[in-house]
Amino acid sequence: MKILSIETSCDETSVSIIEAITFENKVSFSILSTITLSQIALHEKFGGVFPTMAKREHAKNLPILIKQSLLEAKIEIKEQNISEELERDIREILHREPESIDAFLSIASQWSEVLIDYVAVTYGPGLEPALWVGINGAKVLSRIWNVPIIPVDHMEGHILSILIGENEKKEYTTLDKNSIQFPVLSLLVSGGHTEFILSESWLSYKKIGKTRDDAIGEAFDKVARILGLPYPGGPKISALADEERTLFIKPRVEIVSYPRPMIYTDDLDVSYSGLKTAVLYDVQSKEKHNTLNEETKRAIAREFEDAAIEVLVKKTKKALETYNIQTLIIAGGVASNNHLRREFEKLISNFDYPIELLFPTKNLSTDNSLMIAVAGYFNIEDGRETYQYSNSTKKSPNEIQALGNLVLT
Ligand code: KG4
Ligand code: ZN
Repeated sequence: MKILSIETSCDETSVSIIEAITFENKVSFSILSTITLSQIALHEKFGGVFPTMAKREHAKNLPILIKQSLLEAKIEIKEQNISEELERDIREILHREPESIDAFLSIASQWSEVLIDYVAVTYGPGLEPALWVGINGAKVLSRIWNVPIIPVDHMEGHILSILIGENEKKEYTTLDKNSIQFPVLSLLVSGGHTEFILSESWLSYKKIGKTRDDAIGEAFDKVARILGLPYPGGPKISALADEERTLFIKPRVEIVSYPRPMIYTDDLDVSYSGLKTAVLYDVQSKEKHNTLNEETKRAIAREFEDAAIEVLVKKTKKALETYNIQTLIIAGGVASNNHLRREFEKLISNFDYPIELLFPTKNLSTDNSLMIAVAGYFNIEDGRETYQYSNSTKKSPNEIQALGNLVLT
């Protein structure tokens, strides 16, 4: 089964084509192409993602990435003259993204038929205007090729991203889903989410904890802004903090010390807005006393990172014990943080019983379409609803809605 997948929920436009090969009840994924284009350089100037600008960039770039993906995956070109009816439908589907019409018409005339079985697309959660670009692009492809669409939850994509690994030769590998022991705890740490998700069985999800305010990635980005570092600040804070750790083994509490919000509360919730405010007040005070400099900024980055991750580790430990967890998955952009990885490895290696700890490979921690293709495959295998034009047994792709606040269930 070949799947083309699209991800446009935030500031990365991404397209992949994978082939799922089943042999003796096991699936392995062959990655025919995967391309991600980041908008970071564009949003950097403004210190964050602007939804309307993100939408325009996705609309401009999505058909270009689709074309590139088809070429890279060596999907045969079969030219055709586009019928009036097809052209009218494409224009109608894309009436809110007129800048992409010509490029999609060119795809329709070059690839009139393809050996692709499904189009998978992220439908939420994310920035709604950005999500619509991906959905409408998927609808156009579904119309041209007469193939069904499988809508995918972005957060489920992050969880299932751990099924794609990388060997020493940097080739992609597939983890056998049957090797995963339940119950599974997924800790989702991204720019928009901080959630503890319990799975008692394959593809079932129950939220058992969350942030009460800011997401952890958002807190990293805000603290970076307070320190005058460019967007997205997560990786920059992390690099500064690691620099500080190589210079000073122990945290320099005499220079900076922050609270660990909610660390002793009896639930699985976390909170990051108070920590961010503590950093803000500290920075303002250091500015006033002329003690804010490169050296103190390093110590601040480390103390913030220590505090943010200490709370997560503590709450995770509690969840592992409460639910007798066998597998811990940590996914989402912040899962690429080095200190976080080290601290969770420490937690698991000192745990009372063996627990499997799974992280995505680093380049699949942040948003990408490979995870959407993989989640799409397992949703199809599970018999979830797919959408197709001119197929009386299926709903129309026009019924797919972008859901900014989609909740994983
Ligand atoms: O999952 P993701 O790519 O997008 C969302 O779905 O939100 O996560 C992006 C977030 C940003 O807030 C970014 O600053 C953070 O992940 N991030 C990091 C690191 N790399 C990315 N935060 C801390 N340390 C990192 N190394
Ligand atoms: Zn994400």
